[in-house]
Amino acid sequence: MTVSGAARVAGVMGWPVAHSRSPLLQNYWLAEYGIDGVYVPFPVPPDGLARALGALGALGIAGVNVTVPHKEAAFALMDECDNAAARMGAVNTVVVGGGGRLRGLNTDGYGFIQNLRAVAPGWRADAGPAVVIGAGGAARAIVCALLDEGAPEIRVANRTAARAEALAEAFGAAVTPVAWEARSHALDGAALLVNATSLGMTRHEPLDLALDALPARAVVTDIVYVPLDTPLLAAARARGHVAVDGLGMLLHQARPGFRAWFGRDPEVTPALRDRVLAGP
Ligand code: ATR
Repeated sequence: MTVSGAARVAGVMGWPVAHSRSPLLQNYWLAEYGIDGVYVPFPVPPDGLARALGALGALGIAGVNVTVPHKEAAFALMDECDNAAARMGAVNTVVVGGGGRLRGLNTDGYGFIQNLRAVAPGWRADAGPAVVIGAGGAARAIVCALLDEGAPEIRVANRTAARAEALAEAFGAAVTPVAWEARSHALDGAALLVNATSLGMTRHEPLDLALDALPARAVVTDIVYVPLDTPLLAAARARGHVAVDGLGMLLHQARPGFRAWFGRDPEVTPALRDRVLAGP
């Protein structure tokens, strides 16, 4: 990484932001491609978000990622948005244009699909129903992306039924809410199973789900990546399913931002995965 007086600057706004792996990831790519640029953490409290985003143009900053708790608030502060951000009502990537104009993207769904494609090249969205466990922000991005890819039916099971129902209502007839107690039965005939909850993460309970009804050809994926091999993925692998871990989603969702700020589509490689897993 070179940081000259002409370096391009980008960063991540979050509160807190210290846990973010984005600086490690983005600076890895900058070093890899020998780009004169830097990517820094910006700790921005909720009441400072509007001022922080408003200052990007004046500072000549190329753009930022926005993470918890700012994704929805940032959406309301954009001058324009891509389709995914508009449908999600949330932004995770901001590109600063001329005059400080702010363009918001949501690349979470893109990251999810790219990761699936990379690890399970045989997977097709129209192969059959998808089952999504969870109905939070991550689930919303995944449902939206699966619909865009042509998934014929998405069954959403969430502990709090009202959130699954709201998601189904927002996205139309192809999305059906499933009662939390019926989640194992909902796997019948599915071509894809996604855990979009925090269950299975280190220091959380595992996802309690019986895979017996899941057809052998179904692909199983998890948004959790600490640990990389969640109890769900281990159980899926033991049954012979293609299992796709969550780290790739994090890495692929970062690509559009890097491309917009630094002018190159970066690659997700095994060396990058190792670097991000090793931590700072
Ligand atoms: P994110 O934006 O990362 O999706 P979130 O909006 O807090 O985060 O959503 C977390 C998801 O994990 C939700 O689907 C949540 O279920 P609820 O809507 O019922 O809260 C789910 N989740 C978290 N802990 C859970 C638990 N112990 N059992 C079942 N679901 C859980």
